[in-house]
Amino acid sequence: MADATDRPVLTTTAGAPVADNQNSLTAGPRGPVLLQDYRLIEKLAHQNRERIPERVVHAKGSGAYGTLTVTGDITRYTRAALFRPGQRTEALLRFSTVAGERGAADAERDVRGFALKFYTGEGNWDLVGNNTPVFFIRDPMKFPDFIRTQKRHPRSNLRSPTAMWDFWSLSPESLHQVTILFSDRGLPQGYRFMNGYGSHTYSFWNEAGERHWVKFHFKSMQGHRHWTNAEANAVIAEDRESAQRDLYEAIERGEFPRWRVCVQIMPEADAARTPYDPFDLTKVWPHADYPLVEVGVLELNRNPAHYFAEIEQASFSPSNIVPGIGFSPDKVLQGRLFAYADAHRYRVGTHYEMLPVNRPHATVARTYHADGPMRFDSPVGGDAYYEPNSFGGPAEQPAFREPPLRLDGDADHHSHREGNDDYGQPRALFRLLGEAQRQRLFGNIAGAMQGVPRHIVERQLGHFRRVDPAYAEGVEAAIRRVHTAPASDPRTAADVTLAVEAAGITRAA
Ligand code: NDP
Ligand code: HEM
Repeated sequence: MADATDRPVLTTTAGAPVADNQNSLTAGPRGPVLLQDYRLIEKLAHQNRERIPERVVHAKGSGAYGTLTVTGDITRYTRAALFRPGQRTEALLRFSTVAGERGAADAERDVRGFALKFYTGEGNWDLVGNNTPVFFIRDPMKFPDFIRTQKRHPRSNLRSPTAMWDFWSLSPESLHQVTILFSDRGLPQGYRFMNGYGSHTYSFWNEAGERHWVKFHFKSMQGHRHWTNAEANAVIAEDRESAQRDLYEAIERGEFPRWRVCVQIMPEADAARTPYDPFDLTKVWPHADYPLVEVGVLELNRNPAHYFAEIEQASFSPSNIVPGIGFSPDKVLQGRLFAYADAHRYRVGTHYEMLPVNRPHATVARTYHADGPMRFDSPVGGDAYYEPNSFGGPAEQPAFREPPLRLDGDADHHSHREGNDDYGQPRALFRLLGEAQRQRLFGNIAGAMQGVPRHIVERQLGHFRRVDPAYAEGVEAAIRRVHTAPASDPRTAADVTLAVEAAGITRAA
């Protein structure tokens, strides 16, 4: 054993030197351990508490720090300090898959999370997006139901394709996102090779108090790269952490991944005129109507020093905004404004926002929040521990007031399905896809429908048909190829996927 005398002294959590970290305190060499071995007890007790509850969704993730550099000028739309031309802002980006648990393999077909925290001089701004511009639902009431279908069946403890397709076929608003999920973009080779989107409509407000609606886009400068299902299965057999490894090692090598940051801007009054609801999360704004405006470049250039402290405990919430950026009437966004900080208080702890990764880095948080678990600093303020006070404590600043948002309408449970076209935008996407891409889409869907009752498959085919008859026909043909086995066929999903590949569907470009 190395000579320990030139190393720092190991201590207990109370700072007392530890004389023996190899042998428990026992009654005789063969004897039982004594309860008074407080060092052993401390060690075992700490180990018992090394995990926090995993995120209820997006549990498996990877993250890195970087910099947003602003090269364009969007100051006529927003007063946000981080968007001043030339501004550089520290950022943290956590990528994730959605459905798998913390130990899930990275190379699974799933939406990827793209959660950003910008440490701005006016507080932290979190943009908690995905690698898709749209989502499966347009009402937050449906989120827990939707997620239930993505997680394990309560009896079998297995993922259930029947539940997934039952829900999707009963929720036609999911069609756009389902088409993206089963297209090549549903299985990126790594986090560097995909776009990020804020997905929701947010708002910008400027110095003059004018509001514009905005969507955020992050275009991968590494290009798009995807696995086919068969390739991904081969990757997973060798490496369950392929995306974590790719991101971590690229940054260690100094190959810093970058994204072009762009926005789409809609004048406030246009919202009443667009043929689609611009606050509907299942819709994009066509580029022809609202072209991309260049903002700058996001670069990831620093791996975290400690995964648990900086990535597992990182807490992103769409409710973290800064002056110049606001919300929109998007119903799902409104639901999310509640959900995230609530999850953090439960999952990380009451004062999660004080952890180094979560607190502001370019300014100081000054609140009157007081005590609770893990209050590990002494709140500054002395006699000013309530507000208003006469002792110089922090006070509100009306200069940061957001312009008023006009809202109207009767309070009711308005149907989010009536009067909405769920087929037009999936059609625009389907028609973008070349023949080889379409064939992979059909095969991926057919493979994922293995074992799903016929009436559910038929219902879903009805939706595909309304998008484009060629969509339904393509999926049906792929189903005929891969669903020829009897219901009791013991083949695994991987075998089925390989069968899809063997049916002539080739590698994604
Ligand atoms: P455009 O032709 O102007 O844009 C097409 C967009 O589709 C590009 O952003 C492209 O991304 C993206 N794309 C290409 N292949 C796929 C794929 N397999 N899965 C998902 N996205 C893909 O058309 P529109 O703006 O009129 O939109 C048409 C359709 O394109 C939409 O219905 C939507 O499904 C999809 N789309 C639109 C976006 C938007 O904000 N308007 C954003 C992303 C997708 P890239 O440039 O990175 O290659
Ligand atoms: C994570 C809720 C929709 C992207 C989470 C978490 C919750 C949640 C509770 C875990 C948070 C944590 O423990 O730290 C919801 C609800 C939604 C919704 C209630 C709809 C009503 C969306 C949408 C997107 C999204 C539409 C993307 C556009 C993410 C991402 C994460 C996440 C990226 C992981 C964040 C991280 O890396 O820590 N969501 N979500 N979610 N969600 Fe959502």
